[in-house]
Amino acid sequence: MAMQDDGQVIGVIGAGQMGAGIAQVSAAAGYRVLLGDVDQARAEAGKAGIAKRLARAVDKGQIDTAARDATLARIEPIAGAAAMAPCDLVIEAATEREDIKRRIFADVGAVLRDDAILASNTSSIPITRLAQAAPDAARFIGVHFFNPVPVMGLIEVIRGLATADTTVAAIELYAERLGKAVVRANDAPGFIVNRVLMPMLNEACFALGEGVATIRDIDLACELGLNHPMGPLTLADFIGLDTCLDITRVLFEGTGDPKFRPAPLLVKYVEAGWYGRKTGRGFYDYSGAEPVPTR
Ligand code: CAA
Repeated sequence: MAMQDDGQVIGVIGAGQMGAGIAQVSAAAGYRVLLGDVDQARAEAGKAGIAKRLARAVDKGQIDTAARDATLARIEPIAGAAAMAPCDLVIEAATEREDIKRRIFADVGAVLRDDAILASNTSSIPITRLAQAAPDAARFIGVHFFNPVPVMGLIEVIRGLATADTTVAAIELYAERLGKAVVRANDAPGFIVNRVLMPMLNEACFALGEGVATIRDIDLACELGLNHPMGPLTLADFIGLDTCLDITRVLFEGTGDPKFRPAPLLVKYVEAGWYGRKTGRGFYDYSGAEPVPTR
């Protein structure tokens, strides 16, 4: 499959934050996009979120109304896997649970053309293992986007043991058309970004738990002392503390190295259901106009 031609169809499975972002940037780059979720209402809600973000971009003068309308017209919300049959590339961006992803690959795999590529946006599940649930491991690959997708300029491409060179090349063409830079990672726990990022976020949780400094001061130290756009505790809340813990556990279990052990405070927050922005509370309380540190 060559990803440079017009008229190619990208399927995105999962119309949440990541899936909708991937659909948006793919449609903006000129691809026709099928945005799928378990039911039509969720798929439509994903498209409605994209419409809102594009409307803001029009208000800011970043795009004109014609570009907005053309991008939206290329996105078709759909329900179920069967509708993915016309796709050249399907990117799964569903919940980070292996059983759910495996079921999706089996369902989509049953209808995909035999030259189409199946990709996963997983942030931590091994690609080689996931490929076992795909129709052809040679045409299966990891394509890891970053949140917020329209803003972040990177795609991490992860090849499994059996991923073909032609599959990698097709994905790199797709990424280029999206205007994203590509880094290639082997199928090791956490790939590149999370291998480096999660120990930092986890360490910030250790520092907070050990009373090194307050939430505000840990975040401000990294924002102003390292020039990071967000402090580590703000970023952990943004990603989701449950997700941070899951990925840290993948690093810990996948390497067997105690340096990756999860911070007790991170575990406690997740046990409390304090997952960050998405639940209204993590290290910060998001119930008011501005986030307020909780400790
Ligand atoms: N969707 C789309 N666009 C968004 C957005 C969203 N959710 N949130 C912010 N933006 C856009 C804004 O519209 C704005 O765009 P323009 O400059 O074109 O107007 C731009 O981002 C900056 O936004 P703001 O001025 O409101 O806010 P900011 O300057 O504080 O930036 C941020 C917000 C871009 C999120 C910035 O804080 C940042 O880069 N944070 C770090 C994000 C990061 O590290 N992401 C990776 C997380 S790890 C991951 O995703 C993978 C994983 O596996 C865990």
